[in-house]
Amino acid sequence: MAISSKSRRYPSPFPRALVTLFFAFLLFARAASRVLPEDSTGDQTWNQTTVNQAGNNQTGNQTRINQIGSDQTGNQTAASSRRRLLQSNNWSQPSSGPVDVNRAYKVLAKYVTVDIAGILLRMAFHDAGTYDKSSGTGGANGSLKYELSRALNEPISSHWSVIESIKGGLPNVSYADVIFLAGFYAIHITGGPLVTSVRTGRVDASVADPDNRLPLSSWNADQLTSHFGDAYGFGCQELVALSGAHSIGTSKVTPPLGPMDDTSRVFDVRYYQKLVNGGGSFPSDKALSQSSDTSPYVRTYAGDQDAWWAEFVDALKKIGDLGATYES
Ligand code: HEM
Repeated sequence: MAISSKSRRYPSPFPRALVTLFFAFLLFARAASRVLPEDSTGDQTWNQTTVNQAGNNQTGNQTRINQIGSDQTGNQTAASSRRRLLQSNNWSQPSSGPVDVNRAYKVLAKYVTVDIAGILLRMAFHDAGTYDKSSGTGGANGSLKYELSRALNEPISSHWSVIESIKGGLPNVSYADVIFLAGFYAIHITGGPLVTSVRTGRVDASVADPDNRLPLSSWNADQLTSHFGDAYGFGCQELVALSGAHSIGTSKVTPPLGPMDDTSRVFDVRYYQKLVNGGGSFPSDKALSQSSDTSPYVRTYAGDQDAWWAEFVDALKKIGDLGATYES
């Protein structure tokens, strides 16, 4: 009662029309920043924090590799054009087109820890690694989400909820982009390069890719080089550079179980040094130092982290292009 008599004597200085206008403006501003609704401030502290989590101070290399590419413009196509594309191709999942990678990484920073970096990087390979050059089918199209029941994806399926959480923070970004951005973010959070020149705008497939297209850990060097050449169009350098992903993570179901190497939380060249000394987790790893086609790269990377990082980043970008359809 006291309040109503007070408000009669001192009418509000904000007339109802002004208040309505203010809220209308807020709604408009929110719609205009539709790409990443969870984007917060423009500061870069997230970057430092995540590098620190890896317990690895590599600022010199970091700076050099950071220059590998410049930021993407985040150019967005009109909603009507997106709808037309999705309808004409019968794709299942809307994509926002190209994404502002720096802003996406801020969302990823909320969900990704060093503990799950390995499995996220592996997801990027398993989404893209179904590509078959001769038929032009499979590839980096987000179809991994339909392939979780496959034997080789067993550890991936039990961590898939992380992708769904990230997707919740990036609702307009396709699964294919989320998976690859998470893969790139995984190498950064474990002390590797921060790569912002990642192409995005991949459109998701609506069905699973054909099965039995991923390489096996029992394979020898000939089988690996044939597969990477025939199916992906890659050479020995890309095979060896990409295999260095086994620098991080843990083997969860494939013997020998446990950390991939003794610095498995750091994206470093310990993996290659182990191979040079006759070690390695799986036969497919050991094979790389036993073949004259691949061993020169193993030796080079064992002593040159900058070279490996640069070639790994190039190869990961290439694998992320396999079979990808981009909305521009
Ligand atoms: C060259 C052929 C490859 C073979 C045969 C292979 C095989 C495997 C196997 C058997 C595991 C252990 C899975 C488990 O039991 O948990 C593994 C783990 C892993 N792979 Fe590969 N892989 C290959 C290439 C790649 C590539 C190209 C990447 C990424 C660019 C990659 C990233 C990873 C990562 C990060 C892990 C650790 C996963 C975790 O922490 O859960 N692999 N790989």
